Amino acid sequence: MEKTAKIIIDGKTYELPIILGSEGEKAIDIRTLRQKTGYITYDPGYGSTGSCKSSITYMDGEKGILRHRGIPIEKLAAHSTFVETSYLVINGQLPNEDELVNIRETLNDNSLVHEDMQIFFQSFPRNSHPMGILSAMVNTMRSFYPDLDTTEEEIDKTMIRLLSKVRTMAAMSYKISRGHKVVYPRSDYSYCANFLNMMFDNPVKPYKIDSELVRALNVFWILHADHEQNCSTSAVRVVGSGRVNVYATISAGIAALWGPLHGGANQSVIHMLMDIQKNDGDITTAIKKAKDKNDPFRLMGFGHRVYKTYDPRAKIMKKLCHKLLKRLKIDDPLLHLAMKLEKVALKDEYFVDHNLYPNVDFYSGIFLRTIGIPLNMFTVMFAIGRLPGWISQWKESMDDPHWRISRPRQIYSGETKRGYIPLSKR
Ligand code: CMC
Repeated sequence: MEKTAKIIIDGKTYELPIILGSEGEKAIDIRTLRQKTGYITYDPGYGSTGSCKSSITYMDGEKGILRHRGIPIEKLAAHSTFVETSYLVINGQLPNEDELVNIRETLNDNSLVHEDMQIFFQSFPRNSHPMGILSAMVNTMRSFYPDLDTTEEEIDKTMIRLLSKVRTMAAMSYKISRGHKVVYPRSDYSYCANFLNMMFDNPVKPYKIDSELVRALNVFWILHADHEQNCSTSAVRVVGSGRVNVYATISAGIAALWGPLHGGANQSVIHMLMDIQKNDGDITTAIKKAKDKNDPFRLMGFGHRVYKTYDPRAKIMKKLCHKLLKRLKIDDPLLHLAMKLEKVALKDEYFVDHNLYPNVDFYSGIFLRTIGIPLNMFTVMFAIGRLPGWISQWKESMDDPHWRISRPRQIYSGETKRGYIPLSKR
């Protein structure tokens, strides 16, 4: 028998269906609520609202579980590559050997960016933020690659194009921002090796591919591949629900990710650690400020809407940092500060009571610094990693039989009807 929820409003009982997810998640289906009762729900920030059904990513925030298409993030980080994980997130299963060869080839075939796009890159003011440039340039792709998303074949091509070219464009923007010659992608390099080469190769100092660094970058991007209905993914779904083209939806996702409470946190964590460093390594002031309700300061890289325990991605990221720094024989004082901050925060009553633990961004900036990524490119690195998630969630929403344009309601709290006062009497 179908389970239902009973709600009593103004003394009258209404029955609403209950929906169960495949991992036992429970939801009350309120689609007919307004029609039946005249009431709507009120949930700013959507903490108790399920906006869709999705078979891509499962998270259990209480237990610290993250799985893509059923596969735990720990297994993917240990055994997979970013290209394989992207395929999994988008297509629902890991690729077989032929499929992997094919996807690698098509990624390479689509890695070049239209030469005319370089003019746009060159025209941004030198100190423009790369996230703004990337968002604008992805939107611009609509004009350069107009065959889009109508047939299955076009959709596949567009997705590959995005995965491959966004990576090229990110490296290109870095080179142009430094006034250096753009390095083109090479078909003999893997996805991640290609990126590192496009970023760091130059005519006077050829870049040597280090397989361990390439592996580390694979893990970094795997950890960002998808995270169900977060702010930028919801932006992608909301914008896409108006049936705008996919480039515009991904561009909106990039813009949403830019914020310091979301993907921009990886840059903010480093700013915070540098400030602490300047303040003679005094972490007590940061902790005190984070707890002060009258101070807008938050401990960056801490807390999460879903995770009420240690973010499983942060655990892997922390290990990755240690491994990489050891391997490169780098002693980063910011890593020591971060560890000290974590230790103190995790024992502090406020952080314990609020279930505030390190999230993926707490250690990711240290990783990115170590591999030579400039600070203002940190969130771009997150964006490249999140692309398969955005693409997959957009595709799922397009195929959803329950699709409707996103259009929340509101509780109006403004003036009630009143007269128009002529200018002379105001
Ligand atoms: N430092 C201090 N207090 C915090 C923090 C923090 N980092 N995060 C949450 N709180 C407190 C907050 O003040 C509130 O306290 P109270 O209930 O006493 O008023 C309580 O915890 C709940 O906070 P909230 O803002 O309702 O929680 P949320 O789920 O809306 O916000 C968050 C989640 C990630 C925006 C927030 O934890 C935050 O601002 N963290 C710092 C920024 C950050 O690291 N963002 C990266 C998130 S992970 C990567 C990604 O997916 O984007």
